[in-house]
Amino acid sequence: MRPLIAGNWKMNGSIASGTNLVLGILEQRAEHDPGCDILVCPPFVSLRPIADLIQNSPIKLGGQDCHMDKGGAHTGDISAYMLRDVGCQFVIVGHSERRVNHKEENRSILLKAKSAHDNGLVAIICLGETLEERKESKTLTVIKHQLEGSIPETASFNDTVIAYEPIWAIGTGLTPSNEQIKEVHDFIRDELKNNFKDSTEFRLLYGGSVNPDNAQAIFSINNVNGGLIGGASLKTEDFWQICNSL
Ligand code: PGA
Repeated sequence: MRPLIAGNWKMNGSIASGTNLVLGILEQRAEHDPGCDILVCPPFVSLRPIADLIQNSPIKLGGQDCHMDKGGAHTGDISAYMLRDVGCQFVIVGHSERRVNHKEENRSILLKAKSAHDNGLVAIICLGETLEERKESKTLTVIKHQLEGSIPETASFNDTVIAYEPIWAIGTGLTPSNEQIKEVHDFIRDELKNNFKDSTEFRLLYGGSVNPDNAQAIFSINNVNGGLIGGASLKTEDFWQICNSL
């Protein structure tokens, strides 16, 4: 399985800064294949210029969210169809910042993932527990619930990637211990086995304060098949170093 390193730029930067970032990655990638798929997920308004830049390159493009419908009266929303139209191959759904800030729940995340699939996109479905849930030893129960509720039963490794992102690790500089990451990733793999024939082929990403210093140790954990990178994906050097940590 080829690992995936995905850069989630969130609501950061400008077209100019995003262009510079991608030009830097393209330059490095032209010299060397780090052995992983590389994905960038810019803000919607930067998708078009970035799509033009990475055309005919191995760098892939993704949206950070999509609406569950193909089109219609949804002011401010973007559909999976539109993401595909602008040149995306991927879309992140169910990121905890969407779950919390936009009150998204498993059911709508499942429908977004379905719409992604229907429109030819790979859905990166995010899961993760809060600090309280971890302290109360509820992590695996929460993950199980999110897995059951937000992954379409028709999903396959070709159209679905799962990202485990403990909410308390996102943007905080805190990371779970390697044992804690392994426990959750092994659990996700086992749960997939119950529902999907191709369960061993699904890519499982870890996300939450991955940086060039901890990436290698995290990526060497069993059942970690890459990373979803926030802050550290905004600097070419850091992101490239992370891509080379597999
Ligand atoms: P972070 O974000 O790497 O800045 O912690 C990860 C994410 O939210 O996807």
